[in-house]
Amino acid sequence: MKTSGKILLAPSLLSADFSRLAEEIRDVENAGCDWLHVDVMDGHFVPNLTIGPVVVNAIRKVTKMPLDVHLMIDAPGRYIEEFRKAGADWITLHVEAEKDIRETLLAIKRLGAKAGLSLRPKTTIAELEPYLNDLDLILVMSVEPGFGGQSFMPETMAKVKTLRSKFSKLISVDGGIDPKNASQAIVAGANVLVAGSAIFGKKDRGQAIQDFREVCKKSS
Ligand code: DX5
Ligand code: ZN
Repeated sequence: MKTSGKILLAPSLLSADFSRLAEEIRDVENAGCDWLHVDVMDGHFVPNLTIGPVVVNAIRKVTKMPLDVHLMIDAPGRYIEEFRKAGADWITLHVEAEKDIRETLLAIKRLGAKAGLSLRPKTTIAELEPYLNDLDLILVMSVEPGFGGQSFMPETMAKVKTLRSKFSKLISVDGGIDPKNASQAIVAGANVLVAGSAIFGKKDRGQAIQDFREVCKKSS
């Protein structure tokens, strides 16, 4: 399935300096990033704990970038409304984390947000397939969810390729993405690149983003 349009860059806030969030966000916004990726972790679905709706609400006030909220939490349906009220534009849950997937996706849309579904590296496409028509975005994890700074798993790109043959909307890749491996994701069919360490982890975000843009131009 052919995709058209630009590759979107979504820096993951997890690698930002949390003592100066507003400045960090402005930095990547001024450097031309498209979305801000916000990783929500509950200490159950993944071992790590991060942020909740209160922080999303604060972030909403300092940026015009769409907020791409990645829920790595059990039973995410409980919190959809709160995250939407806080300002989430895209809400992605994990297929492994919710019993009532379809109802949760529909709830996200009823609230006026875009609905995404993510899968861990070991989760098969078959688990996600029943929901393809309900989705605005698929987020393919290219590391085990839970922490920034892990190594990209190239074998997960086969899933991107297969999904691209079945799904024409946005496919996002998340985990260990940098300008060196981004072309593998783009060639497989991804059109959103999430990157934490490779953007917020760099001193010169403008340069990091320019490096990504070069690869996007060459590979798409
Ligand atoms: C991992 C998160 C990612 C992470 C990406 O569970 O979903 O969004 O922050 O960070 P890097 O790019 O450092 O792997
Ligand atoms: Zn993420």
